[in-house]
Amino acid sequence: LASIEVDVSALEPGMSLTVKWRGKPVFIRNRTDKEVEEAKAVQLADLKDPVARNANVDAAADATDLARSAGEGKENWIVMIGSCTHLGCVPLGQAGDFGGWFCPCHGSHYDTAGRIRKGPAPTNLPVPTFAFTSDTVIAIG
Ligand code: FES
Repeated sequence: LASIEVDVSALEPGMSLTVKWRGKPVFIRNRTDKEVEEAKAVQLADLKDPVARNANVDAAADATDLARSAGEGKENWIVMIGSCTHLGCVPLGQAGDFGGWFCPCHGSHYDTAGRIRKGPAPTNLPVPTFAFTSDTVIAIG
């Protein structure tokens, strides 16, 4: 299926964009330093799902903040499929007990790295295949 290119040049830290890819919403967020720091401070042992769930890294990689993000030098960027891993509702951004995303359907709380922290969702929000094709353009798929 087709990949899409998204211009993210207008996204200042703390701003997000939702695009549609393969019929699903994809959240792109330029995280603030505070959000990154909060995510980095979390111990892996405290995660409900300790697996990165990032199509761009090893399938067995730990769900560290770096492994959830766009990687070294671009750790502020996070790209995720915006479909709750419980039953597929679209989570709300910058909401919930962990300041990340909150799914209002049955109360799943995701942190600022999109990792499930509380509620019925079993796994972290998945990171699709993507890459920066320039400093300001992300290709998804
Ligand atoms: Fe999100 Fe159930 S669909 S908590």
